[in-house]
Amino acid sequence: MLEGTVSRITGPVVEAKGMTGARMYDVTKIGDKGLIGEIIRLEDDKAVIQVYEDTSGLKVGEPALSSEAPLMVELGPGLLTSIYDGTQRPLPELQKAGGNFIERGLTVSSLDRKAKWDFKPTVKKGDKVKTGDILGIVKETSSIDHKIMMPPNTSGKIESINAGKYTIDDIIGKLDDGTELKLAHKWPVRQGRPYKRKLDPEMPLLTGQRIFDTFIPIPKGGSAIIPGPFGSGKTVTQQSLAKWADADIIVYVGCGERGNEMTEVLDEFPELEDPKTGNPLMDRTILIANTSNMPVAAREASIYTGITLAEYYRDMGYDVAMMADSTSRWGEALREVSGRLEEMPGEEGYPAYLATRLAAFYERTGRVICNGTTDENIGSVTVVGAVSPAGGDFSEPMTQNSLRITGAFWALDASLAHRRHFPAINWIKSYSLYLGQLEDWYSENLSPEFKKYREQAMGLLQKESELQEIVQLVGPDALPESEKAILEVTQMLREDYLQQFAFHEIDSFCPLEKQLWMLKAILSFYNAADEALKRGVSLQQILELPFKEEISRMKEVKNDDLSSIQALVEKINKEIINLEVL
Ligand SMILES: Nc1ncnc2c1ncn2[C@@H]1O[C@H](COP(=O)(O)OP(=O)(O)O)[C@@H](O)[C@H]1O
Ligand SMILES: [Mg+2]
Repeated sequence: MLEGTVSRITGPVVEAKGMTGARMYDVTKIGDKGLIGEIIRLEDDKAVIQVYEDTSGLKVGEPALSSEAPLMVELGPGLLTSIYDGTQRPLPELQKAGGNFIERGLTVSSLDRKAKWDFKPTVKKGDKVKTGDILGIVKETSSIDHKIMMPPNTSGKIESINAGKYTIDDIIGKLDDGTELKLAHKWPVRQGRPYKRKLDPEMPLLTGQRIFDTFIPIPKGGSAIIPGPFGSGKTVTQQSLAKWADADIIVYVGCGERGNEMTEVLDEFPELEDPKTGNPLMDRTILIANTSNMPVAAREASIYTGITLAEYYRDMGYDVAMMADSTSRWGEALREVSGRLEEMPGEEGYPAYLATRLAAFYERTGRVICNGTTDENIGSVTVVGAVSPAGGDFSEPMTQNSLRITGAFWALDASLAHRRHFPAINWIKSYSLYLGQLEDWYSENLSPEFKKYREQAMGLLQKESELQEIVQLVGPDALPESEKAILEVTQMLREDYLQQFAFHEIDSFCPLEKQLWMLKAILSFYNAADEALKRGVSLQQILELPFKEEISRMKEVKNDDLSSIQALVEKINKEIINLEVL
């Protein structure tokens, strides 16, 4: 161990001298308490260290011990259901050790070292194995089989491997060169885990949320940001996604925005039920929580810890979705540390390297062919990052730099939230660059008609915003009937389609097939009405039919029985077409 002494302290940034030989990003224990930090700058024999724990009380002259290794996470069975801080320390263990007030300098194991896991090998003596190959299976939770893999950068021939109950420190087998095989291994968080090749995104990450799946989808392996001011629905949306998205594994990184917000997440998440299996949602979830009383630098590490855990499950062939709520807190940590380093500030005080850091982070998303002997193991990491621009001003650096490198922009809108239009996603400002790439999937797996409906619906919604300007000037009566019909149908689109209450018993999740039929019903109404109007039927005659009411009830139709919506489409087509000109 390399030992220096603390020579200067500025908040979370500490300088130590006598550190010749230390390397960038090596983890260093600071002071008598052994606070954890990482080296972020080296100059002569001096190292500048960002410290992940509160440095108050630390004094010049105390020791600084470099571990001569970067910040690592431990990867193995027991990750799922865990609640960690930004450096993978289990929060419940920290609390047990230090009471409610988390004591500083505590080292606790990331994984339970005593738990025994039932390992079933899938390889045998004599098999040639390389990086990424699956050696066997451990049933980690009721929902997930944990695949024990050959760690990165190792290969050889199996000398021995045995089924049995093991702790993560036990030896489960050996390679012919003597390398010991275990259930867990370590990986540095700032380095993306290797894979063979990235694939083009081609299948959507279905969310059960109509606004996303229909209009602004993301693929498995894609990335999206949700920018929005305080109270507009970032956290509720992220939680709906965690619950409903068709990902195998969820990594949820929370940075407390409000004092008690993370406490809510920590209390609520373990109670959530996985709608797919009825098991606890935590059985396929890892939570990383930065409560607001933790120092800023810990938030900086947390998104790297999160994405490394996500990549690890990707390497097993799983589809992983990571939610980061909110990435702005990470940006602020970067800004604070940069300020302490007295670096030349860029826009709004953020460091000039904000854009490259963000790009390097989002670059770790993707759908990939995993390492291993075969090319059959495919996994993905999708990231949805919330952004919280002050006052909802999207021109600020975090929003701007994030939107340039992510594929979907889900813009939350304070005025929609204020009108209680939820999810408060602005359908005009939001976009997905993935639409084209996902077209074939929708056409083959849902319906070739879907694209046409989506485009017509979005066209009408855009038309509505033009018409509203006219209505504001001259009132609705000035509009011709054909345009009044547009306002009728866009009201349906907004209220009966886009609005989706996250806490509704049925409507919190809307399967894709139901989205298709709901959209078809609304647009059948419009298309039939438009045609009838052209024949000379009045709008009033059309609105006297009970369809508006029936359309508004579609949300509540049971998700597994769409027959009533299908019947409604038929009735709309028949009855409006049959209207006689009076
Ligand atoms: N999809 C939704 N369905 C129902 N209510 C919602 C939805 N999205 C947001 N809300 C309401 O808005 C409030 C604030 O949302 P929240 O996600 O906490 O905002 P933010 O994280 O952006 O500050 C929630 O407490 C909830 O009442
Ligand atoms: Mg929030």
